[in-house]
Amino acid sequence: MNNKLIEKIEQLKQDHNAVILAHNYQPAEIQELADFTGDSLGLSIKAAETDAKVIVFCGVQFMAETAAILSPEKTVLLPDKLAGCPLADMITADQLRELKQKHPDALVVCYVNSSAQVKAESDYCCTSANAVEIVNSLPQDGPVIFVPDQHLGQFVIEGTARDLILWPGYCHVHVVITEEDINSAKAKYPDAIVMAHPECTGPVKALSDHLFSTGQMLRYAAKSEAKHFIIATEIGIIHALKKQNPKAEFIPAAERAICPNMKRITLEKVLWSLQDLQYKVTVPQDVRIKAKKAIDMMVEVLPEK
Ligand code: 13P
Ligand code: SF4
Repeated sequence: MNNKLIEKIEQLKQDHNAVILAHNYQPAEIQELADFTGDSLGLSIKAAETDAKVIVFCGVQFMAETAAILSPEKTVLLPDKLAGCPLADMITADQLRELKQKHPDALVVCYVNSSAQVKAESDYCCTSANAVEIVNSLPQDGPVIFVPDQHLGQFVIEGTARDLILWPGYCHVHVVITEEDINSAKAKYPDAIVMAHPECTGPVKALSDHLFSTGQMLRYAAKSEAKHFIIATEIGIIHALKKQNPKAEFIPAAERAICPNMKRITLEKVLWSLQDLQYKVTVPQDVRIKAKKAIDMMVEVLPEK
């Protein structure tokens, strides 16, 4: 059944000169189907570089929007139009404008998990992979607003020793991972290395050995000799970690850390997406030009690790 679907998808991909990009949280069969998998930064770079005419983005709205901002001449498709990111929706452009009015001298850094309109109101965009590097590159003396994720913001405060003005946004998938989850996994696997995403809460991060984007987790595990890893992020990454490193064991800190929006993408929806060229993600030109300025910086600044 899946083989037939995959054959049809492959044919349509050729017909349309399409490329399939998938985030590391996608269902395993979508990761397997994709031409490229990665974290938000890696996929943004791929979206900017590809020669394909059509990008099928297996991820959530803000990721497809970022591709559309970087490559306006390409057709960018999101196979499920309801695949959003609740964290990105926690701040609107109006709310950001109000915050900027309260801090008129501040530079604004937005996490890539934000709408195109919020990016257009920002000076710099970042991902979890390069947030510290981006903030470190700013002039040392002025105030900095960081939106919308408070936990990533706190991680940046600690990584840069700068006092940021934070927005109280959070990811509902990462904040359900608790200290108890980490402690009980550590009790079972005392030799394990704990890798957590910076969107996790402070107590979880304090119990972790490394705070990484999903791409950084994969790169670290590929080089490590360790046999056990406790993974505090969305469980879709476990597929990629195991595939890359079959001898090691990857233990999800919490099986319930599932992003329902990421899991909206299915093989059938990818097929329909290519058949009907749906759902096209576009960004109005005035918003796109402003947002692109903030994103260009993000794509250029690679993380140190
Ligand atoms: P990464 O950029 O680390 O892949 O994270 C994206 C995301 O949505 C985290 O919840
Ligand atoms: Fe958004 Fe969280 Fe899902 Fe990432 S895991 S896409 S931040 S809701």
